[in-house]
Amino acid sequence: MSGNRTKGGLVDWIEANATTELALTINGAEHRLTIDARVTLLDALREHLHLTGTKKGCDHGQCGACTVLVDGRRINSCLSLALMHQGDAITTIEGIGTPEALHPLQAAFVAADGFQCGYCTPGQICSAMGMLGEIEAGWPSHVSDDLDAPAVADTEQIRERMSGNLCRCAAYPHIVEAIASVARDRAEAAA
Ligand code: FES
Ligand code: FES
Repeated sequence: MSGNRTKGGLVDWIEANATTELALTINGAEHRLTIDARVTLLDALREHLHLTGTKKGCDHGQCGACTVLVDGRRINSCLSLALMHQGDAITTIEGIGTPEALHPLQAAFVAADGFQCGYCTPGQICSAMGMLGEIEAGWPSHVSDDLDAPAVADTEQIRERMSGNLCRCAAYPHIVEAIASVARDRAEAAA
Protein backbone atom coordinates (compact mmCIF):
# COMPACT_ATOMS: atom_id res chain seq x y z
CA MET A 1 0.00 0.00 0.00
CA SER A 2 2.85 2.32 0.78
CA GLY A 3 3.86 2.10 -2.89
CA ASN A 4 0.60 3.84 -3.87
CA ARG A 5 1.61 6.80 -1.80
CA THR A 6 4.75 7.49 -3.76
CA LYS A 7 4.81 10.09 -6.51
CA GLY A 8 3.11 8.66 -9.57
CA GLY A 9 1.14 6.18 -7.48
CA LEU A 10 -2.61 5.73 -7.36
CA VAL A 11 -3.10 8.21 -4.55
CA ASP A 12 -1.20 10.88 -6.47
CA TRP A 13 -3.30 10.19 -9.58
CA ILE A 14 -6.50 10.54 -7.56
CA GLU A 15 -5.27 13.73 -5.94
CA ALA A 16 -4.38 15.19 -9.34
CA ASN A 17 -7.70 14.30 -10.94
CA ALA A 18 -10.18 14.75 -8.13
CA THR A 19 -11.04 18.41 -8.65
CA THR A 20 -14.37 19.01 -10.32
CA GLU A 21 -16.66 21.91 -11.12
CA LEU A 22 -20.24 21.73 -10.05
CA ALA A 23 -23.31 23.86 -9.50
CA LEU A 24 -25.58 23.47 -6.49
CA THR A 25 -28.98 25.08 -5.99
CA ILE A 26 -29.28 25.96 -2.34
CA ASN A 27 -32.23 27.82 -0.91
CA GLY A 28 -33.17 28.89 -4.43
CA ALA A 29 -29.77 30.34 -5.35
CA GLU A 30 -27.21 28.72 -7.64
CA HIS A 31 -23.68 28.31 -6.34
CA ARG A 32 -20.76 27.31 -8.56
CA LEU A 33 -17.90 25.48 -6.95
CA THR A 34 -14.56 24.00 -7.94
CA ILE A 35 -13.93 21.34 -5.35
CA ASP A 36 -12.57 17.89 -4.74
CA ALA A 37 -15.10 15.36 -6.03
CA ARG A 38 -14.88 13.57 -2.68
CA VAL A 39 -16.24 16.52 -0.68
CA THR A 40 -19.48 15.73 1.12
CA LEU A 41 -22.53 17.92 0.78
CA LEU A 42 -22.07 18.87 4.43
CA ASP A 43 -18.51 20.07 3.91
CA ALA A 44 -19.47 21.87 0.69
CA LEU A 45 -22.12 23.76 2.63
CA ARG A 46 -20.02 24.56 5.67
CA GLU A 47 -16.46 24.82 4.45
CA HIS A 48 -16.89 26.07 0.88
CA LEU A 49 -20.13 28.08 0.97
CA HIS A 50 -19.95 29.12 4.63
CA LEU A 51 -23.54 28.07 5.27
CA THR A 52 -22.70 26.99 8.79
CA GLY A 53 -26.27 26.62 10.01
CA THR A 54 -26.03 22.95 9.05
CA LYS A 55 -24.05 21.30 11.83
CA LYS A 56 -21.49 18.52 11.91
CA GLY A 57 -21.92 16.23 14.87
CA CYS A 58 -20.61 12.75 14.12
CA ASP A 59 -19.81 12.98 10.37
CA HIS A 60 -20.91 9.33 10.21
CA GLY A 61 -24.70 9.38 9.75
CA GLN A 62 -25.46 8.76 13.38
CA CYS A 63 -26.63 12.04 14.92
CA GLY A 64 -28.77 13.90 12.36
CA ALA A 65 -27.17 17.29 13.09
CA CYS A 66 -26.35 17.63 9.38
CA THR A 67 -29.90 17.02 8.13
CA VAL A 68 -30.93 19.07 5.10
CA LEU A 69 -33.77 18.73 2.62
CA VAL A 70 -33.11 17.58 -0.95
CA ASP A 71 -36.14 17.98 -3.18
CA GLY A 72 -38.19 18.04 0.02
CA ARG A 73 -36.77 14.84 1.47
CA ARG A 74 -34.50 14.80 4.48
CA ILE A 75 -31.01 13.40 4.18
CA ASN A 76 -27.85 13.28 6.26
CA SER A 77 -25.61 15.62 4.29
CA CYS A 78 -22.48 14.05 5.80
CA LEU A 79 -23.25 10.80 3.96
CA SER A 80 -23.75 12.29 0.53
CA LEU A 81 -21.26 13.71 -1.95
CA ALA A 82 -21.91 17.25 -3.10
CA LEU A 83 -21.50 16.33 -6.76
CA MET A 84 -24.45 13.93 -6.46
CA HIS A 85 -26.77 16.91 -5.98
CA GLN A 86 -26.37 18.93 -9.15
CA GLY A 87 -29.89 19.78 -10.30
CA ASP A 88 -31.43 19.09 -6.89
CA ALA A 89 -33.22 21.71 -4.80
CA ILE A 90 -31.30 21.78 -1.53
CA THR A 91 -32.82 23.48 1.50
CA THR A 92 -30.79 24.30 4.58
CA ILE A 93 -31.82 26.01 7.78
CA GLU A 94 -30.72 29.33 6.25
CA GLY A 95 -33.56 28.94 3.74
CA ILE A 96 -36.23 28.27 6.36
CA GLY A 97 -37.82 31.36 7.86
CA THR A 98 -36.07 34.56 8.88
CA PRO A 99 -35.47 36.13 12.29
CA GLU A 100 -38.37 38.48 11.56
CA ALA A 101 -40.67 35.80 10.14
CA LEU A 102 -39.94 32.44 11.70
CA HIS A 103 -41.16 29.26 10.04
CA PRO A 104 -43.97 27.72 12.14
CA LEU A 105 -41.61 24.97 13.26
CA GLN A 106 -39.02 27.51 14.39
CA ALA A 107 -41.68 29.47 16.24
CA ALA A 108 -42.93 26.26 17.85
CA PHE A 109 -39.42 25.31 19.01
CA VAL A 110 -39.13 28.73 20.66
CA ALA A 111 -42.59 28.52 22.22
CA ALA A 112 -42.07 24.97 23.52
CA ASP A 113 -38.49 25.59 24.68
CA GLY A 114 -37.39 22.88 22.23
CA PHE A 115 -33.66 23.50 22.52
CA GLN A 116 -30.93 24.19 25.05
CA CYS A 117 -27.50 24.62 23.39
CA GLY A 118 -29.20 24.66 19.96
CA TYR A 119 -26.53 22.61 18.20
CA CYS A 120 -28.95 19.92 17.04
CA THR A 121 -31.77 22.37 16.29
CA PRO A 122 -31.16 23.11 12.58
CA GLY A 123 -31.10 19.39 11.88
CA GLN A 124 -34.15 18.81 14.07
CA ILE A 125 -36.12 21.46 12.19
CA CYS A 126 -35.08 20.28 8.72
CA SER A 127 -35.86 16.72 9.74
CA ALA A 128 -39.24 17.71 11.19
CA MET A 129 -40.13 19.50 7.95
CA GLY A 130 -39.37 16.39 5.96
CA MET A 131 -41.08 14.18 8.51
CA LEU A 132 -44.33 16.14 8.47
CA GLY A 133 -44.33 15.80 4.68
CA GLU A 134 -43.88 12.05 5.05
CA ILE A 135 -46.88 11.88 7.39
CA GLU A 136 -49.00 13.92 5.00
CA ALA A 137 -47.95 11.56 2.19
CA GLY A 138 -49.19 8.65 4.33
CA TRP A 139 -45.84 6.96 4.94
CA PRO A 140 -46.19 4.50 7.82
CA SER A 141 -43.93 4.60 10.84
CA HIS A 142 -42.01 1.66 12.27
CA VAL A 143 -44.34 1.89 15.27
CA SER A 144 -47.51 1.87 13.17
CA ASP A 145 -49.69 -1.09 14.19
CA ASP A 146 -51.46 -1.06 10.86
CA LEU A 147 -49.32 -0.11 7.86
CA ASP A 148 -52.47 0.71 5.89
CA ALA A 149 -53.88 3.03 8.56
CA PRO A 150 -53.53 6.80 8.06
CA ALA A 151 -50.21 8.13 9.36
CA VAL A 152 -50.65 10.24 12.48
CA ALA A 153 -48.38 12.68 14.24
CA ASP A 154 -48.87 11.31 17.74
CA THR A 155 -46.11 11.33 20.33
CA GLU A 156 -45.07 7.74 19.68
CA GLN A 157 -44.78 8.24 15.93
CA ILE A 158 -43.02 11.59 16.23
CA ARG A 159 -40.46 10.02 18.56
CA GLU A 160 -39.84 7.15 16.17
CA ARG A 161 -39.81 9.29 13.05
CA MET A 162 -37.36 11.74 14.66
CA SER A 163 -35.17 9.00 16.15
CA GLY A 164 -32.38 9.80 13.69
CA ASN A 165 -31.92 13.21 15.26
CA LEU A 166 -30.08 13.07 18.55
CA CYS A 167 -30.04 15.85 21.13
CA ARG A 168 -27.18 15.71 23.59
CA CYS A 169 -29.06 18.20 25.79
CA ALA A 170 -31.97 15.72 25.89
CA ALA A 171 -34.59 18.32 25.00
CA TYR A 172 -36.67 15.53 23.50
CA PRO A 173 -39.98 16.12 25.34
CA HIS A 174 -40.06 19.74 24.23
CA ILE A 175 -38.93 18.92 20.69
CA VAL A 176 -41.81 16.45 20.38
CA GLU A 177 -44.21 18.99 21.86
CA ALA A 178 -43.10 21.62 19.32
CA ILE A 179 -43.47 19.28 16.35
CA ALA A 180 -46.81 17.95 17.58
CA SER A 181 -48.21 21.48 17.87
CA VAL A 182 -47.26 22.24 14.25
CA ALA A 183 -48.73 18.93 13.10
CA ARG A 184 -51.99 19.77 14.92
CA ASP A 185 -52.13 23.21 13.31
CA ARG A 186 -51.53 21.76 9.87
CA ALA A 187 -54.16 19.06 10.35
CA GLU A 188 -56.69 21.66 11.50
CA ALA A 189 -55.90 23.92 8.56
CA ALA A 190 -56.36 21.01 6.16
CA ALA A 191 -59.66 19.87 7.73
S1 FES B 1 -23.02 14.79 11.20
FE1 FES B 1 -24.25 13.74 9.76
S2 FES B 1 -25.39 12.34 10.94
FE2 FES B 1 -24.02 13.25 12.36
S1 FES C 1 -30.31 21.43 22.18
FE1 FES C 1 -28.25 20.91 22.64
S2 FES C 1 -27.90 19.16 21.40
FE2 FES C 1 -30.02 19.53 21.20
